[in-house]
Amino acid sequence: MSRVAYVNGAYEPHGRAVVHIEDRGYQFGDGVYEVWAVFDGKLADSEGHFTRLQRSLGELQIVPPMGEAALKIVLHEVLRRNRIHDGLLYLQITRGVARRDHVFPVSDTPPALVITARATDRAAAALKAAKGIAVITLPENRWGRCDIKTINLLPNILAKQAAKVDGAGEAWFVDADGMVTEGASSNAWIVDRNGTLRTQSTRANILRGVTRSTLMRVIADSGLEVSEQPFTVEDAKAAREAFITGAGALVMPVMSIDGHILGNGHPGAVTSGLRAAYLREAAPD
Ligand code: PDD
Repeated sequence: MSRVAYVNGAYEPHGRAVVHIEDRGYQFGDGVYEVWAVFDGKLADSEGHFTRLQRSLGELQIVPPMGEAALKIVLHEVLRRNRIHDGLLYLQITRGVARRDHVFPVSDTPPALVITARATDRAAAALKAAKGIAVITLPENRWGRCDIKTINLLPNILAKQAAKVDGAGEAWFVDADGMVTEGASSNAWIVDRNGTLRTQSTRANILRGVTRSTLMRVIADSGLEVSEQPFTVEDAKAAREAFITGAGALVMPVMSIDGHILGNGHPGAVTSGLRAAYLREAAPD
């Protein structure tokens, strides 16, 4: 079956879908994005991603290309045309097409909207989660507005590539105070030596992960202790368990940090339990 992308009002064959060379996303990284996990054709954590999208657009003063109700119809149409059952839905909005100039273009320049979808394999994801991933750590080198989900991802890309070269699945950024902020495309968590779940506070310079928020609700229901007290790399290496959260990773166990193996080298009970509970919450049958 051929894939279909939505580009500025038209559904195009994926291989021929293009944007203009003077799209400000292409020239400046001047835009925002969102990624939804799709389970059984439904958007996981749907509202959280819409709320964050509106906020990202507002922070960058980009006018939404259409109202939320219309956008939802287009997103579902992209899923339908691609026959996505389980997958990932990607949306990108840029400040539009204009002659290259750093300042904003004239205010009636329409924003550019691109939506793509791809299928994922639930069984393969479960197998990956049964093995977990390795992470490396790198100095934080991003700008001060990581709360905005901008398409400007160069530090994240370089970090992720460094992780791949090292045989790892994620890179954690470590700030000037020695605290782990988050991953290149996920939030970072540990289960510390006291059994308390810890993750960096959303008051810090991180993305407010939607998966993280949903998991906070799951944790509140589970009776586990959780704290937004940040942790160091040493804390993480000494932790009982570690994991990452995100629309792509969902809840993914971390088995080693900079080559240091955690616990017995197998996903821990807390992480595995939270992954199952998250999936029940985000993708109810
Ligand atoms: N990334 N932190 C960063 C830097 C991220 O890029 C992401 C998500 C997250 C987790 O956010 P959420 O739970 O809302 O997906 C945290 C997406 C999946 C991506 O870039 O593909």
